[in-house]
Amino acid sequence: MATVVLESSKNLDCGHDHMKGVKDLMDAGVMDSVPAKYVFPQDRRPSAAEILQGESVPIIDISSLDGSQQERLQTIQSIGEACAEWGIFRVINHGIEASLIASMLDVAHQFFLLSTEEKMKYGSREVLDPVKYGTSFDPKDQVFSWRDYLRHFCHPVLQTPDNPPNYRDTAGQYFKETRKLGLKLMVAISESLGLQPTYIETVFGEGLHAGVLNFYPRCPEPELTLGFAPHSDPGGLAILLQDEVGGLQVHHKGHWVAVQPVPNTFVVHVCDQLEIVSNGRYKSAEHRALVNAERTRISIAAAEGPALDALIFPAPQLVDEIHPPMYKSMLYREFHKVRHSIQLKGKNALEQLKITKQE
Ligand code: OGA
Ligand code: NI
Repeated sequence: MATVVLESSKNLDCGHDHMKGVKDLMDAGVMDSVPAKYVFPQDRRPSAAEILQGESVPIIDISSLDGSQQERLQTIQSIGEACAEWGIFRVINHGIEASLIASMLDVAHQFFLLSTEEKMKYGSREVLDPVKYGTSFDPKDQVFSWRDYLRHFCHPVLQTPDNPPNYRDTAGQYFKETRKLGLKLMVAISESLGLQPTYIETVFGEGLHAGVLNFYPRCPEPELTLGFAPHSDPGGLAILLQDEVGGLQVHHKGHWVAVQPVPNTFVVHVCDQLEIVSNGRYKSAEHRALVNAERTRISIAAAEGPALDALIFPAPQLVDEIHPPMYKSMLYREFHKVRHSIQLKGKNALEQLKITKQE
């Protein structure tokens, strides 16, 4: 069966430039099978058997962060528990207008509907270019993920594509709000670790806020591939908005748990630099995205991370004889270099920084 798929895909695959993206590939003609380039080996494909039922990612009402002292402390505690047990939680009553969220999803969609030629203006191969259109997850992987993306910096300087014409204005407003939300959550997370409220923000310096728009075209054989292979995000916190289609899963207790989309709700991920600062008390979330045969899916991540020249290290207050430092100190820029020098699998970039007993 698998051989049949591979053989028929080879023909469809013939001569296509994969770097142009999955949408470009799908637009090229009627496709009823997944080309070989996107077929994951059996042991990396999503399987229903790995899914953990009956658990769901915590939902936290964060309006209480502005409430009475007691409400605030309770919420901070819930956030801390979610960071320690899940590395991921959903937030409601976050203060970002539903209309702004809808407009952002709309311009994101419009961007991916532009011609391939227009999108390829931003199709550089440099990882830290301010505006980058790309495809897949890790181009070093022999298999490509069923994903196109646009990534651009939002803070300190807003850098966006020129098209669609209203993109810059909408994204400017949207990512200003997600940054405010990220900083607010970092205060709560600092406090939940027993650190000064501004501890994380201070260590991160004039942090980078980046937007990552993911576009997952409808896929003829979703069981053979993935939209986003398992990974953890590199930065501090990622605030993810997913549309109503669904497909995000988080690794929890050795299984995968589906993160069901709820309108106007953000999925907040603990990322690698926050795991380091917390000296491993909080775990960066390993997650992945599935695709489906019926519908194209869009998600938008707002990533709040350290400045590239910030030195990231376990907070001294969280290091003692019982809890020795778990990670080496490293400039965030260097971390990116490490991350892009290896073939990414799960949390293996962060693993490179782990201090082992022998050292
Ligand atoms: C990401 C990511 C998952 C999704 O952008 O880093 O993991 O659901 N996205 O699209
Ligand atoms: Ni991610």
